[in-house]
Amino acid sequence: MRKKIIAANWKMNMTIGEAESFLKDFRLEIEEVTGVEIVIAPPFTALPKLSELLGGSQKVRLGAQNFYFEKSGAYTGEISAAMLRDLFVRYVIIGHSERRQIFGETDSFINKKVLAAHASELKPILCVGETLEEREAGKEKQVLETQLRGGLAGVSAEQLVETVIAYEPVWAIGTGKTATSAQAQDAHAHVRAVLAELTDAATADKVRIQYGGSVKPANALELLSQPDIDGALVGGASLEARGFAEIVKAGV
Ligand code: G3P
Repeated sequence: MRKKIIAANWKMNMTIGEAESFLKDFRLEIEEVTGVEIVIAPPFTALPKLSELLGGSQKVRLGAQNFYFEKSGAYTGEISAAMLRDLFVRYVIIGHSERRQIFGETDSFINKKVLAAHASELKPILCVGETLEEREAGKEKQVLETQLRGGLAGVSAEQLVETVIAYEPVWAIGTGKTATSAQAQDAHAHVRAVLAELTDAATADKVRIQYGGSVKPANALELLSQPDIDGALVGGASLEARGFAEIVKAGV
């Protein structure tokens, strides 16, 4: 049985004060919740405060939205895995479509981050997903396969089990346009089939695959009820404590 994982990707939102007040409200909302893994990925600036407030909590884990794969050195503006580990960060989002599209990250660059994350005991949340143009051209499965094979090159079966895949169709991100549960399930089943080709069926069966793209309290339960949907990576709807808590509860 795969434990569902619901993650908040706050993107470039939330000051330290806002993050602090979110956490206070959110913890009250999820007091009774068990059996689901919860991750919050705030901007770097809010990580120290949330880390201090969470104090190593097992209930709410910290994630980062990015890092650089080199250990240290002259990389102006970058953050290393060790710096994240210092703050008890457990997860790191890698290959988000915004990083691919706005910052030009390629599959081979993303792959270096995935390998470096594992080497530092950070669990990667590897994002994959097709654009609208690619879907309309009937290429979505091919795109997913290329991104998975590229991003996961050199990842062992043991490391794959510690990797989370997030299927985020680019056309559904921040658009209010969610993939239907059937479209999402179909893509997730394909992702799992590719993972089985990369390793074996038993390993692929253990990997958690999140859906991301306009997840809201109103659609979370239906998406999370699909057999291959093991969680959600939530953007906009994760900025409000009660709404995000409702999505978390849909994963129980
Ligand atoms: O990583 C989460 C994401 O890209 C989805 O964003 O705002 O559509 O939930 P949103």
